[in-house]
Amino acid sequence: MRPVVAGKGTESGRVRGALEGRVALVAGGAGEVGEGVVRTLLGAGATVVVPSRSWERLEALAARLEPGLRARLEAHELAVGTPEGAAELRRRIEPRGRLDLVVASLGGWWRGGPLTEVSLDTWRRILDDNLTCHFVVARTFLPLVVASGGSYVLVNGAASRIPVAGSGPVSVAASAQIMLKDVLVAETRGTAARVCTLVIDTPVRTRSRPDGGPEWLSAEEVGELVLWVSSASGVEAAGANVPLDRRTLEWVRRHGWDERPAPSP
Ligand SMILES: NC(=O)c1ccc[n+]([C@@H]2O[C@H](COP(=O)([O-])OP(=O)(O)OC[C@H]3O[C@@H](n4cnc5c(N)ncnc54)[C@H](OP(=O)(O)O)[C@@H]3O)[C@@H](O)[C@H]2O)c1
Repeated sequence: MRPVVAGKGTESGRVRGALEGRVALVAGGAGEVGEGVVRTLLGAGATVVVPSRSWERLEALAARLEPGLRARLEAHELAVGTPEGAAELRRRIEPRGRLDLVVASLGGWWRGGPLTEVSLDTWRRILDDNLTCHFVVARTFLPLVVASGGSYVLVNGAASRIPVAGSGPVSVAASAQIMLKDVLVAETRGTAARVCTLVIDTPVRTRSRPDGGPEWLSAEEVGELVLWVSSASGVEAAGANVPLDRRTLEWVRRHGWDERPAPSP
């Protein structure tokens, strides 16, 4: 692990302090959506563990964070989508004695030809990035979340239910990711852990695409909804495919919510 060194400071905002003393892992946290989730969780007071295959991406992420947040970012250069990389990260996290929240924001978009023209290499790569990585991360870290009575959140998109022509492997993997979550829910029933999927139904405003329509969520707002589903009030979201768009966010903000994390068992 190469730690990211940072200065001290404070973060303002309504979620400040909600995750004080908690440990979160954001797999894919150096990605476009992941970065906003990381920023929101840090703003809520969590220590946030972020793995990436690229040290440069981790450094760039740290550099974009406000100094007060950077102090609680724990960056690890490793491949969390491989059994070896995931096991190594688990070994590094375990001494903390807790893992309260995992957000899996893994995989990415791909646009090519119709399925009948997709090469086997492309198919395998996309299934690997968008599905197998989720399996490896869940297999490795869900047991820690169960032990902590925490939350496990998979990030997904509308391609999980809309067959997107020209992006077939992404749609197939996204749909299978929903079943992966359903099985994880079934297999953790009776434990204090919560598992759910956030289905982002809009494009997301991110570092490389900061402008967008008014209906687009920002990556930080996705993070706000992660906080909600993992909070005491978000219990209704347990096991669900939670559709994320501006209406969901406004509903959550309008109804107010108990910002405390779900109680540990
Ligand atoms: N961007 C949007 O507008 C949008 C909209 C709706 C839904 N979503 C959903 O949000 C999620 C993330 O999308 P994104 O746009 O943030 O993608 P992204 O910028 O490409 O980031 C994806 C992250 O996944 C990790 N990853 C991919 N393949 C991996 C592998 N084989 N092993 C280990 N890590 C791997 C990457 O880690 P490294 O740092 O190691 O490369 C990267 O940090 C996806 O589920 C997507 O469907 C995004």
